[in-house]
Amino acid sequence: MSFTQEIADAAETIKNADSVTIISHIDADGITSEAVLRQAITRRNINLESVFVRQLEPMTMKHVPDNDSLKVFIDLGAGQQNLLEERGLKESEVLIIDHHVSQDTDTPYQQVNGLKYGYEKLSAAGAGYFVARDIEDSNIDLAKLAVIGNVGDMMARESRGLIGPAKEIADDGVKAGNVKIIDGDLNSYGISTRPLHFFLSYSNDPFVPGITNDAEGAQRLVEEYAKIPLRKDNGKFRVWEDLKSDEKDRIIKLMKYHLIDSDEPVAPERLIAQHYVFPDEPRYTPLRNASEYATMLNACGRWVKPKVGSTVCCGNKKSTEYTEACREAADMLRHHRSVIREMMEYILDTGVTELSHLQYLHVGDRFPDTIVGIGAGMALSKLNWRLPIMILCYLPDDPELVKISMRTNETMVSKGVDLQAALLEASEAVGGAGGGHKIAAGAYISRSREAGFAERVNEILKRQLS
Ligand code: C5P
Ligand code: C5P
Repeated sequence: MSFTQEIADAAETIKNADSVTIISHIDADGITSEAVLRQAITRRNINLESVFVRQLEPMTMKHVPDNDSLKVFIDLGAGQQNLLEERGLKESEVLIIDHHVSQDTDTPYQQVNGLKYGYEKLSAAGAGYFVARDIEDSNIDLAKLAVIGNVGDMMARESRGLIGPAKEIADDGVKAGNVKIIDGDLNSYGISTRPLHFFLSYSNDPFVPGITNDAEGAQRLVEEYAKIPLRKDNGKFRVWEDLKSDEKDRIIKLMKYHLIDSDEPVAPERLIAQHYVFPDEPRYTPLRNASEYATMLNACGRWVKPKVGSTVCCGNKKSTEYTEACREAADMLRHHRSVIREMMEYILDTGVTELSHLQYLHVGDRFPDTIVGIGAGMALSKLNWRLPIMILCYLPDDPELVKISMRTNETMVSKGVDLQAALLEASEAVGGAGGGHKIAAGAYISRSREAGFAERVNEILKRQLS
């Protein structure tokens, strides 16, 4: 079997179905996955229903309908095939399109998963897009959504751009005319919406002395040293996307100069990354580029309105339903940002407990389980990057459970850290379940087994690094 064959077989399975249920995940990759498949399937006039879940676990399995539709699990399912078996789902009624580590089960469910073929940087929306393109060539207009899914799942972060099959998807988007790839740009977030000096001061990968977390320093760099106007003629702040390429070059050159003051040497190329801009979306909105669009979808999903995100992805732009969805999504984005900021401050102010190979913090019921993973990732960028971070929290709707989120970075993964394996082993040992990736993983365990859990994971990480 090859990846291409898996894709072709999946396209056949979908084309032959009378009706389909898509079961997808509530984050940006899950929402774009659903949006890609939904359009590919409805364009063929196949009956369709979509269900979003925060994770496939015994409690959420009830949302999977009991009917004779083809159940397409996307961005989840690979690591929870035992639940599908327990539910009695037959091989013929299941298709899994995923990029999470797969679980061995007796029933050989049909699956599309790039991991088996070494494609670590392809998200579920990416795999779903290849299936959609196989169903019909004209579906290349959906590549844009898959680019958002890939960027949302951080597939472009370390490589500073999409690579391998994910790059092929971005190139399809360029062919379709709704994606523009900007090369050699600054690796920073908010190119379409953040006022220039804030955009630069939020830039923290890498940390730039005198600029990162210093809006005044950033303003001086723009106005005094680069001699670039901060505002437009109408008095509004300019955004990065407004700058001409020679203006961008001047700023990047000055930023590189500031890097010389770093505590540890930083390669100047770390400042450079590729951006994905959508010419068919309005300027000065989060819809205009892949990473801001992904944050907006994450906001919809994590605040339990994934269908609003899905309408933004594929609604008819002239409809009031679409306009209303965009407004609601913008509100959720504002809320999402402020809660994440609050959580970051809470983690940094309260402080984590450091073990030999792990740092952790229990946030109780202060923050929803759907966003602690994001907080963990952001807090790690300000803490000791050598220690994987673990955040524990309680679930509002289930007093019996504890949610665990872990994050690390590529350097620790290259040294042997595998959070998916660590959480799977530790949670199974206490009767829970977990999964994910080497770099980011999550689990649910029973509240009664919470004591000593961090120490258990610490021991596993120690073994992985020995
Ligand atoms: O459910 P799931 O795969 O979608 O979780 C995605 C999260 O995992 C992202 O928010 C991202 O922080 C993290 N991740 C990552 N690098 C990867 C894969 C996932 O940082 N290669
Ligand atoms: O929820 P969080 O963002 O921390 O999830 C990180 C990764 O772990 C995601 O890829 C998610 O799908 C996975 N995960 C899992 N099983 C769980 C919880 C999370 O596979 N019980």
